[in-house]
Amino acid sequence: MRRPLLVLVLALAGIGAFTGGLAWLLDTPRPPAQAPRVERLWIGLCATCHGVDGRGSWRAALFLIRPGDFSAPRSLRDESDQYLFDVIKYGGAPIGKPGMPAFGSSLSDADVEALVTYARGLGRPTGPPRR
Ligand code: HEC
Repeated sequence: MRRPLLVLVLALAGIGAFTGGLAWLLDTPRPPAQAPRVERLWIGLCATCHGVDGRGSWRAALFLIRPGDFSAPRSLRDESDQYLFDVIKYGGAPIGKPGMPAFGSSLSDADVEALVTYARGLGRPTGPPRR
């Protein structure tokens, strides 16, 4: 009666390796220890859809959300600060971009302003610090 036990142990080990591997593969990016607040906000709240580098994440693509590519040099350059501020604060729904959620209830105006600058920075040739 040793076999069933062996099969059970192997099955458990297999499931463990599979789920552990998935967790390792799908891990969310974490900001570096000394990251400034705005970078933490971006990685914590925005990178899910926009990606750490602003190019759009595969997670968003999975749900057919197309957040665009902020890393393209021209992508946000022609938009006014006020427009970007409003999109982040009130969301994209009022202007027909319903995929973009509103953050006005969870972020202060100062944080939203910082994120406008940060998002713009993603399009600069130097961009934000890469990891
Ligand atoms: C649920 C996914 C999602 C999250 C989370 C998200 N966005 Fe968006 N965002 C979008 C989508 C979709 C658009 C619309 C893109 C388009 O249609 O051009 C968008 C548009 C924008 C735009 C306007 C781009 C333009 O050219 O009109 C800005 C700026 C922006 N997001 C910043 C942020 C910031 C900052 C955060 C974090 C606080 C954030 N987003 C979080 C999905 C998301």
